[in-house]
Amino acid sequence: MTAAENQVTTHEAQIDNSARATLAPNEEFVAYMGTGWAPLETAEITAWEVAPFAKQRRDAVSAAFAGRRVVVAAGIMKQRANDTFYMFRADSSFSHLTGWGAAAQPGAILVFEPTAAGAGNHSNHDVTLYFAAAAGRDSAEFFTNSETGEFWIGPTPSLQDVAIQLQLQTADLAEFSPSAADVTLEDAELGQFLDELRIVKDEFEISQMEAAVAATARGFQEVVAGLDEAIAAERGERVVEVMFHKHARVEGNWEGYDTIAAAGEHACTLHWVQNTGAVKPGDLLLLDAGVEVDSLYTADITRTLPISGKFTAVQRRVYEAVLEAADAAFAVVRPGITFHEVHDTALAVIEKHVKEWGFWPTDAKPNVPYHRRYMVHGTSHHLGLDVHDCARARREMYYDRVLEPGMVFTIEPGLYFHPGDTTVPQEFWGIGVRIEDDIVVTETGAVNLSADIPRSVADVEAWVNRQK
Ligand code: GLY
Ligand code: MN
Ligand code: MN
Repeated sequence: MTAAENQVTTHEAQIDNSARATLAPNEEFVAYMGTGWAPLETAEITAWEVAPFAKQRRDAVSAAFAGRRVVVAAGIMKQRANDTFYMFRADSSFSHLTGWGAAAQPGAILVFEPTAAGAGNHSNHDVTLYFAAAAGRDSAEFFTNSETGEFWIGPTPSLQDVAIQLQLQTADLAEFSPSAADVTLEDAELGQFLDELRIVKDEFEISQMEAAVAATARGFQEVVAGLDEAIAAERGERVVEVMFHKHARVEGNWEGYDTIAAAGEHACTLHWVQNTGAVKPGDLLLLDAGVEVDSLYTADITRTLPISGKFTAVQRRVYEAVLEAADAAFAVVRPGITFHEVHDTALAVIEKHVKEWGFWPTDAKPNVPYHRRYMVHGTSHHLGLDVHDCARARREMYYDRVLEPGMVFTIEPGLYFHPGDTTVPQEFWGIGVRIEDDIVVTETGAVNLSADIPRSVADVEAWVNRQK
């Protein structure tokens, strides 16, 4: 099978749009279309800041997989329906190893060809980035192919330009031949290695996380400024979602995950993304959203806001308990403790309040975490190119691992009292609070990257009220 044939995907095989074709190019027409164009204006092409960082990451792969051919694919367009597709977003490991983010081309493949030590452009490999070279203006594809033709999709990057930007050897995808012996992303050993490689972020990654958090903070501000519009709409949660989406698309690539715009009792549904509900004064609005910047790093931030501008007494009690848990967790973060100690610390605060409020069964048995009924999720996850970053890492490299400077993760305790939960008084029903911040571990402790987004009761109330 040739490389080009190997790229044929299910959707391409299934879709036949010939019934709609109106242009039957003949040789003369193709020749005609290939002429009459002024030369393309070319911007100056320079190496991207990410290039030396991506080289270091590839060197780590080359060292670990000496003698083996490693193939890391960007992935292909995913079909939405018939001949329409979801927006392409490259695989995170591919982006990590190439530095190619939002501009990465569907079908691109990074190949580590094994060599004798020192004989290739990396320690044990010659590494090449393959992608489909743009169809020339002298081809019919240029104006007939709606997936690859520049007439349809706009200019695509050239092999030469990408080689300079990423400081990587590039080649046309048609020259790539897969082999049964390739180590690919489907291989658990490679997946685990690449995820563990991403747990400690480098300087470039931390700058991208700061940018993602700053963009997200501005998105939250737009939502708070637009709360009245959300209140006025029947599906106010959708208004919140699109206000954030507009911001994510204008400032970044997209959201890093579907926005959770959960008003009232919807806040108790941990991943409420339907966002079909109303935003009503007197209720809380839990907004969990993150901008993914063009390098594909994402923030993951939650704030819970009193829609009226003032917490009720019971909302406030819940909010302050969650905030105390978040602050306690943040206070223990420093190199040397384990990842799960952050979670243990937050949960101890949650447990204390749940007991104080009398929600502990009178016939409690030992070692049953009754408080987890109200917070079933974890307190933290790593964050980076993926919202739940590094998920293929081993437990000892993640949950049980000792923290190191450069790790970036969330702290996001919450309390959720579902309507109809008879273990709590009715006044708690339908209250869901989560406070989520993005943390980077430093040599001596940690920095809360999202600390400037209002968190305390007074600051959150003032924030909402300022917009009224
Ligand atoms: N937004 C999903 C999470 O917080 O993990
Ligand atoms: Mn999270
Ligand atoms: Mn979140």
